[in-house]
Amino acid sequence: MILGNAMLATMTAGGYGLVERGAVAIAGGRIAWVGAGRDLPAGTPGEHIDLCGRLVTPGLIDCHTHAVFAGSRAREFELRLGGASYEEVARAGGGIVSTVRATRAADEAALLAAALPRVDRMLAGGATTIEIKSGYGLDRETELAMLRVARRIGRERPVSVVTTFLGAHAVPPEFAGQADAYIDEVAIPALAAAHAERLVDAVDGFCEGIAFSPGQIERVFAAAKDLGLPVKLHAEQLSNTGGAALAARHGALSADHLEWLDAAGIAAMAAAGTVAVLLPGAFYTLRETRLPPVAALRAAGVPMAVATDCNPGSSPMESLPLAINMACTLFRLTPEEALAGATVQAARALGLADRGRISPGLRADLAVWEADHPAEIAYRIGGPPLHSRIVGGAPC
Ligand code: NIG
Ligand code: FE
Repeated sequence: MILGNAMLATMTAGGYGLVERGAVAIAGGRIAWVGAGRDLPAGTPGEHIDLCGRLVTPGLIDCHTHAVFAGSRAREFELRLGGASYEEVARAGGGIVSTVRATRAADEAALLAAALPRVDRMLAGGATTIEIKSGYGLDRETELAMLRVARRIGRERPVSVVTTFLGAHAVPPEFAGQADAYIDEVAIPALAAAHAERLVDAVDGFCEGIAFSPGQIERVFAAAKDLGLPVKLHAEQLSNTGGAALAARHGALSADHLEWLDAAGIAAMAAAGTVAVLLPGAFYTLRETRLPPVAALRAAGVPMAVATDCNPGSSPMESLPLAINMACTLFRLTPEEALAGATVQAARALGLADRGRISPGLRADLAVWEADHPAEIAYRIGGPPLHSRIVGGAPC
């Protein structure tokens, strides 16, 4: 297949990498050739498709989601609007733990049925790869069930799914006041069991006053290392606990949220090459006022990714184009940085070297937009209409 007459945002060489009247040749599910249409070698095999000047970007990559869960937290939203804080709701038995109750009560079929429409909306926003975390089970069986459902989504829909074990997300009620015992008796054994079933691509945790301490996260990371799994961390979302520096010390792929990140954390992330995953949907939903230190991250050369954080509590959002828009309006990323954040930098945050740019040899994962310039994706609230996606070379 040869896509011609396209405005390409290849996301190569540190920017949009624009090619006007560009062409992309696809063979065997990979990108075979990219360039200006007039330079396409004569005799390149494939059916020609005229995109009539439409914008083509790499397929979007959502590198931080909690897309598998049961139930709704609309009532909690009302409570928070009435004045209760996210932490107060969590400490009163709401928050993450209320989604845990609903998720434990659902079987795998019900979890899949709840997740698929959500995932379909993500795909309608141009995503071709999504990360999905566990973390609403907090017992061995339900954590494994969530990850099985995540894997199943990748078979049911044209999308690559990358799974993350997030057993250290919250302390379940049956372990109230015994976070250490939960980590050692449930989270770490559940991780080993999930890994044995090949359900885990990476390991995450929530390092926060209402969740787990740096010392507890360190034990989970040590277990991940023993299993040969990469790590990442929810860090400095509501307070500074030194989580980002801890993650960087463990060579983490990413540290995520980061509103309370300090200079030492930035330096540690820069030195380790840890990606800063910015989650404006959670910032917006929780009506946070402290901004992640974007200018300092930029100055330190820390790569910045952007994701939806799709979850029922702090970010009930499925649209990556909306996250891109919010990353610009709320966090002051440039539209170019924000699009890179949901493509090339998101690939890096997932440790995937085979996607995120339009470049020969990479997977042919593309998004075609009813737009003629990549800034349209950041500019329009919710993004421009999607024309189509191409996943592993197949139009869908
Ligand atoms: O990324 N910060 C922790 N975890 C999620 C929130 C999950 C929830 O509230 O259900 C987040 O914001
Ligand atoms: Fe999250």
